[in-house]
Amino acid sequence: MTGDRSIEFEGVSVAFPAARASAKPRTAVQGVDLSIAKNSFVSIVGPSGCGKSTLLNVVSGLIGPSRGNVRCLGQPVAGVDLRVGYVTQESNLLPWLTVLANVALPLKFAGVANKDEREERARFWLDRVGLGAWADHYPRQLSGGMQRRCAIARSFVYGPEVLLMDEPFGAVDAMTRVILQQELLDLWEREPKTVLFVTHDLGEAIALSDAVVVMTGAPGTVRAVVDVHLKRPRDVAGVVEDAEFADLHKLLRAYLEEDPGWSKKEQCTSLEQK
Ligand SMILES: Nc1ncnc2c1ncn2[C@@H]1O[C@H](COP(=O)(O)OP(=O)(O)OP(=O)(O)O)[C@@H](O)[C@H]1O
Ligand SMILES: [Mg+2]
Repeated sequence: MTGDRSIEFEGVSVAFPAARASAKPRTAVQGVDLSIAKNSFVSIVGPSGCGKSTLLNVVSGLIGPSRGNVRCLGQPVAGVDLRVGYVTQESNLLPWLTVLANVALPLKFAGVANKDEREERARFWLDRVGLGAWADHYPRQLSGGMQRRCAIARSFVYGPEVLLMDEPFGAVDAMTRVILQQELLDLWEREPKTVLFVTHDLGEAIALSDAVVVMTGAPGTVRAVVDVHLKRPRDVAGVVEDAEFADLHKLLRAYLEEDPGWSKKEQCTSLEQK
C-alpha cells in the first residue's frame, strides 16, 4: 500500500460496449484520480448515471477499468477479495435461502467451518439491523427496506476491512434510516475500516463522512473532494444543527447545480435541509 492509502484510483476510465455493434463504446467514467485514506469514511455524490456504482464495481473487482489502475489494500484489484464487503445497489439476496442463511453465507466462503458459529454470528447482525424475528423467512417475504437491511447484515457479518456501500439506506424509511446511519457510524468508530459510500442525499454524505467526492456526469469525472471536519463521535440526528453542516451542504449543492445532469428531483430529495 502506498503510505496509509486504502483505495487508490489512478487515471481510471471505464467504457462499456455500445448497444449497437457499429457505435462507439460508451465512456461511463473518465480519468478518475482518487486516493482514499485507510479507515476513512468517504462518500460519493453525483447525478444519476455519472458512474458512482461503476466506481464501486471496479474496487470490488466485479469489472475492470478500461484505462488506469485501481489498488485496494495495497494490491492491484484483480477480482473479488474477501477483505472487501459490498452492499450493492440491488440487494442481491439469494431467493432460495432464508434470511439467516443469506447472512451466514459469506462466513462459509470465509472459511468458518462450524455451522452453529456461522448462524450465531448471522443472528447477532440480524438483531442489530432489526430483523431478528425474520431469520427463517425468505427474501421475497421482506419489504425492499428490509431486504436492504438484510444485505447490510450480510456485509458486516464477516468484518471486511473495506466496505463499499451503494445507496444502502435509499429504500429504508426515514426513522430506520437515522438509526442505521448511527449504527453504521458507531460500528465504524468501534471497528475501524475504510468505507466508500454512495448516496444521493447530501445531508447523509456530510453527516457520515470525512470527505465527500462530487462527481459530474457524463462521462463521470471527479469535480471536487470536500473535506468534512465535523467533530467525532457524531450524532447523526444532531449534526444537522451545526453551522459547518449548513455551509458544506451549500457548497456541495453549488457544485452539483453546475451540472445539467443533476435533476430538479434530486435537488429536492437531496436533503431534508430546511
Ligand atoms: N454493465 C453495463 N453495461 C453498459 N453500460 C453500463 C453498465 N453499467 C453501467 N453502465 C452505464 O454507465 C453509466 C454509469 O452507470 P452507473 O450505474 O455507474 O451510474 P450511477 O452514478 O451509479 O447512477 P445511479 O445514481 O442512477 O445509480 C451509465 O450511463 C450506465 O448506463
Ligand atoms: Mg448507482
